[in-house]
Amino acid sequence: MKSSLRKILIGGGTGFIGSALRSLLKNQGYIVTVISRKPGNETITWEDISKNGIPENTHAIINLAGENVLNPAKRWNDDFKQKIMESRINTTTLLANAIQSTTKKPKVFVSMSGVGIYKPDPEKIYDEYTNIGSSFDFISELVHKWEEASKTSTNVRRVILRSGVVLGRNGGMIKEIYPSFNFCIGGRIGSGKQYFPWIHQYDICKLIIFAIENENVTGIINGVSPQIITNVQFTKTFAKALRRFAILPLPKFVVHLIFGRERGVMLLEGQQVIPKKVVEEYNFKYLYPTIDVACEELVRNKHTTSSVDN
Ligand SMILES: NC(=O)c1ccc[n+]([C@@H]2O[C@H](COP(=O)([O-])OP(=O)(O)OC[C@H]3O[C@@H](n4cnc5c(N)ncnc54)[C@H](OP(=O)(O)O)[C@@H]3O)[C@@H](O)[C@H]2O)c1
Repeated sequence: MKSSLRKILIGGGTGFIGSALRSLLKNQGYIVTVISRKPGNETITWEDISKNGIPENTHAIINLAGENVLNPAKRWNDDFKQKIMESRINTTTLLANAIQSTTKKPKVFVSMSGVGIYKPDPEKIYDEYTNIGSSFDFISELVHKWEEASKTSTNVRRVILRSGVVLGRNGGMIKEIYPSFNFCIGGRIGSGKQYFPWIHQYDICKLIIFAIENENVTGIINGVSPQIITNVQFTKTFAKALRRFAILPLPKFVVHLIFGRERGVMLLEGQQVIPKKVVEEYNFKYLYPTIDVACEELVRNKHTTSSVDN
């Protein structure tokens, strides 16, 4: 069947990654429907899924829904943590149950996940085959439960995408730090020695499409670039691409003040993660494999649309 006849359902498709993915899929002739909390154009709600199940002839389902963990406006308390958990686990469970109960099954279910499942360790390099053991903090517990929620007892192909920090011009981390770097008041976070698993927005979207289109892609895949870098390396490269100085580090105590100690770990510590399976087994080709080429794209023609939107 041609992609032009294929229907794709994206939970959380209104967000930073989802909007870019939607454009790319539509450009390739897919028919895309988003699942959102609010009804809208080409959109159904989670209640619709709950009541009516999965729309007929859905080829692939992707779930990207989730409350923004690093929203600095939200205080790190039990209510917010519960919202973070429920927004991922309830939506994923709902989709897994809907897949379970539908007679005409989709071909593939791609469920978003994160590298927070890997414990920061100065020595260890994690790939998709690493035995990760049990959870060690709130974020790792969240990711364990999120991945578990995507299980079904059907033979629908399941792909779990453990993403690093997604770098794109129109959202996520780059949107947050861009103004300070542009005014030369950006800098490393904490010591800057922490590893920084990352991927360009275009590559994460292409990897999702690759996972949909290639039947041999199954199970866990690491959604990170092949290049391991630290926060300092990222900071220097981004500032250089912008032709700015990055002279004002964000000290650890300020990170703790803004984000809280538990959440601050996400910025102050990092993991060395490689996409071994993605590269060696599946031979996926990255458009932005190094931080230099990624940063050049992120600052190129600052006011034009991103390559993902074209
Ligand atoms: N961006 C990154 O660097 C990164 C890295 C690793 C993993 N991830 C994961 O990838 C997924 C997509 O990331 P993103 O950056 O595109 O996120 P995003 O821009 O924050 O969008 C996520 C979408 O989730 C939905 N959502 C938000 N709060 C929700 C809630 N309380 N209940 C149900 N749905 C909710 C929203 O859709 P509606 O408002 O339409 O309902 C939103 O558009 C997230 O699960 C995120 O944790 C992202």
